[in-house]
Amino acid sequence: MTNALADTHVLITGAASGIGAACARRLAQDGAQLLLADVNGEGVRAIADELGQASLEADVTRSADIQRMFDAAYERWGRLDVLFNNAGIAGARPLFEVTEDDWDRMLDVNLRAVFFVLQAAARRMRQQAPIAGSELRGKLIQSASIAAYRGGQAYMVHYAASKAGVVSVTRTAAQVLAPYRITSNCICPGVVDTPMWKKIDADWAEIEGWPIGEAWKRRTALIPLGRPETPDDVAGVVSFLASRDSDYMTGQAVHIDGGLVMGN
Ligand SMILES: NC(=O)c1ccc[n+]([C@@H]2O[C@H](COP(=O)([O-])OP(=O)(O)OC[C@H]3O[C@@H](n4cnc5c(N)ncnc54)[C@H](O)[C@@H]3O)[C@@H](O)[C@H]2O)c1
Repeated sequence: MTNALADTHVLITGAASGIGAACARRLAQDGAQLLLADVNGEGVRAIADELGQASLEADVTRSADIQRMFDAAYERWGRLDVLFNNAGIAGARPLFEVTEDDWDRMLDVNLRAVFFVLQAAARRMRQQAPIAGSELRGKLIQSASIAAYRGGQAYMVHYAASKAGVVSVTRTAAQVLAPYRITSNCICPGVVDTPMWKKIDADWAEIEGWPIGEAWKRRTALIPLGRPETPDDVAGVVSFLASRDSDYMTGQAVHIDGGLVMGN
């Protein structure tokens, strides 16, 4: 337990599972006060209860739910220092078989909602006083992916497009919000052991006729650092991006991937 995030108020979306849940645990250890949001109400309540933090059932694709998340944060704390804009979905489907519904659903959660959550956060943050001990009013952190740079390989064209969009939105926001002293960065994890990858692996197995676990084995075999990524590998970097130590960073896409992608 450190105190690096004492007096730091953080909203995390997609906090019921995987990377979001690991970041909630890490940021709580580092002293942050958290509002944990997820469409999975029961799951997010369980994590919040474990950590003694607040939770909210919210679907980030619904504008009324976005408003409820920010109302809850501002009613509770009168401010929000950090948004971890993390909720997302994935799935594998061959390029020739992607339907309009597949495309719309992926882009709806992974890009449209990420933008409107960011917009709602920035609207409130630009009116608040700076974070204690910082020149910044607020920090925005999005979950993108190395897929933004590598493409979606054979089966994730829609996922990769959504994440390339997240990098782009992150950078526009960094430019537009700098005069308000709000930073905007995104993380690009690699192949992380979460329920999301279990779904990708299962979809991929069905497409190829492989056993469960084969796609995971093949993808993780390519990682230069020689082991799969854990959600905790991501959480340390998110804690740094939430802390004062990263105040001079904005517009960055930070790869946390064991060396899979080097450079942008
Ligand atoms: N797992 C990986 O390898 C990996 C790699 C790169 C990027 N990412 C990104 O990291 C983020 C977290 O992924 P994860 O692996 O922890 O996945 P996960 O499936 O374990 O967790 C995602 C969480 O988001 C929530 N969620 C989904 N749709 C939502 C909605 N409409 N409203 C609110 N919450 C919603 C889910 O209920 C779930 O709790 C995602 O944006 C993902 O694309 C993951």
